[in-house]
Amino acid sequence: MGIGVFQSLKQIRVIFVPEGGNTASEKAGVLTICDSAKMDWMDNIYEGDTQRFLQLKILYHDPSPEGQNEKGFITMLGWAPPGWTDDRLIHHPIFEEAYTLTGHMDYNFGRFTPGTYFFRPAKVKHGHFTAGEEMGTSWIFRLDGALINWVTLNSDVIVKGDAVNYDPETQAPLMAGIPVRSKSTGPWDLDGQ
Ligand SMILES: [Fe+2]
Repeated sequence: MGIGVFQSLKQIRVIFVPEGGNTASEKAGVLTICDSAKMDWMDNIYEGDTQRFLQLKILYHDPSPEGQNEKGFITMLGWAPPGWTDDRLIHHPIFEEAYTLTGHMDYNFGRFTPGTYFFRPAKVKHGHFTAGEEMGTSWIFRLDGALINWVTLNSDVIVKGDAVNYDPETQAPLMAGIPVRSKSTGPWDLDGQ
């Protein structure tokens, strides 16, 4: 049942709602407040290799049940230390959204700078991250389930065809599904495509 009810004198009062709309739990929701300034950064427990150097502070976690990674969610602060880089491409079965707080980072869709927000649907490939040398990069993140990273190496996309009546250098068609970047991010060498 999604909503707990208390019935009295033909009145129905809502006495609790579960922890979240995408919750993995039937427990009543609780107010959670954290002072993130007093929390220690922890290594990224969701990756055993390169990404473990990313630092996290988990603000709220509704853990996914075993085998049901589409349930639950996590909200956290993330910090990539100065110069941190990962040249792999990642996709995962859940959406990810974040708001950039400090520093900057380059990746296949452009550059995170303070104020940059993204919402990325599930299964969209993202990667080749390089954090700024001065202060790294920090964000607040939310993901709608268990963070399972699927990794692609040696990614290569080949487009072939003979242009009949257009200039393939300046009038080439965009391939369906290619990441679209804002022109304000400048030229792209297609790294991470
Ligand atoms: Fe991701």
